[in-house]
Amino acid sequence: MEAYKFSEGLSYDDVLLLPGYSEVLPRECNVKTSLCGGIKLNVPIISAAMDTVTEEKLARTIALEGGAGVIHRNLNPEEQARQVSNVKRYLNWIIESPITVPHDSHVRDVKILVDTFGVSGLPVVDSNNVLKGIITNRDLRFCNDDSLPVTKVMTHNPIVVTGEPSVEKAREKFNEHKIEKLPVVDKDGKLTGLITVTDMEKNKKFPNAAVDKQGRLIVGAAISPQDYSIRLPLLKKAKVDFVVIDTAHGDSKNVMDAIRQIKKDYNIPVIGGNVATKEATKNLIEAGADAIKVGIGPGSICTTRVVAGIGVPQFTAVLECAEEAQKTKTPIIADGGVKFSGDITKAIGAGASVVMIGNLFAGLKESPGNEIIYDGRIYKEYRGMGSMGAISDGAGDRYQIGKDEAPVPEGIEGRVPYKGELRFFLNQLVAGLRKGMGYCGCRDINELNKYRKFVKVTAAGLRESHPHDVHITQEAPNYSRL
Ligand code: XMP
Repeated sequence: MEAYKFSEGLSYDDVLLLPGYSEVLPRECNVKTSLCGGIKLNVPIISAAMDTVTEEKLARTIALEGGAGVIHRNLNPEEQARQVSNVKRYLNWIIESPITVPHDSHVRDVKILVDTFGVSGLPVVDSNNVLKGIITNRDLRFCNDDSLPVTKVMTHNPIVVTGEPSVEKAREKFNEHKIEKLPVVDKDGKLTGLITVTDMEKNKKFPNAAVDKQGRLIVGAAISPQDYSIRLPLLKKAKVDFVVIDTAHGDSKNVMDAIRQIKKDYNIPVIGGNVATKEATKNLIEAGADAIKVGIGPGSICTTRVVAGIGVPQFTAVLECAEEAQKTKTPIIADGGVKFSGDITKAIGAGASVVMIGNLFAGLKESPGNEIIYDGRIYKEYRGMGSMGAISDGAGDRYQIGKDEAPVPEGIEGRVPYKGELRFFLNQLVAGLRKGMGYCGCRDINELNKYRKFVKVTAAGLRESHPHDVHITQEAPNYSRL
């Protein structure tokens, strides 16, 4: 009988990138990347669609730093869309559809709008959308008569900017006139947008933010083959940038059918997954996926491989899927199993454009949930979306668990050390990636994708890689063994 030939599956710990001749310093390396469907990120990292990782706050903060968040779907469709909308509205260059006041309304109407939308300055327009004035908190503060017509209280002939203003032009107007709101009008005086001083300041504070063409933060949302027809209309209205088909087994008929239907009915970039083989990658690309998410069981909270006995170690999975995806230049997202910043370098070295992270972000200040004190240290909760807790909160369909079936979990519930603010932690991850690029002489993500020089390490080699024969007395911000 012929001996069965096993293929080899390697994980991040099994390999190292070979250092190579370099003419670049880490700080000179460009870490900008493509996510999917033309969306660009300034940092090749997105946060996992998990209920202990990504909600509005973390999604907003990571996008301000150049990455993006995927808001999980253990939220009802309305709440998920509301969170997406809040991220999209956080940062603007020009607010394209500002809330306006009809010029024949009264102060009481304006006060209702201010309370409902939490805005502080409203352009006043006639029935043809021609700008007639602006009414701000300053105008309202000293007005005690709610029955007054708006035209009696508003500022007439406000300072405006015409056409398509540049940032410099807008800044000049704010400084010259000491105003807080700057309406944008066309040549006929019709309102086309609004620029606020708060947005100008935020833009200055976060120069690396990942933004769309209108200057709004990039954000994604998780959907499933079962719920996309309910979620997608709401998410589109909330201006979501991309959606992720959030399933444990992407190489399935229902996932392919869903992708085909979404690409037909909704004009939106779709990330398909999760898969771990060349064939599955090909199938998802043929179904129309704009990017492929790779990872079956590498996640720190996953038990899929031990419960079901299937999976592919993550380094090999990324390498194989990337080889297939390269044929159509489809981006690969390496999802799960990142323990240290060096794993990000390895994933991109294996061909990924972006990595998705759960565990390392669950302990951040911006993740959902409160800090827990245990044994004198601070932690935050982190659980798999296939854990008993997440299933009972609604995540069962990710793992094909019907509502009436007894749950068989594919994940666990636990805690991870508290890590403080995302901004500082993400910077450590990106700096680690840059160091790796510097050691390999790769100037950008594309060069690192093509580098392909690895050495396989033994258990002794891995032991040598980590600190050894020493008691760590001072914790480093980028190295922890719990
Ligand atoms: P890390 O390693 O960053 O991985 O914690 C996060 C990724 O793990 C996946 N995920 C799961 N996989 N059972 C699984 O088999 C689960 O309960 C589970 N929950 C999350 C998911 O792809 C995530 O991005």
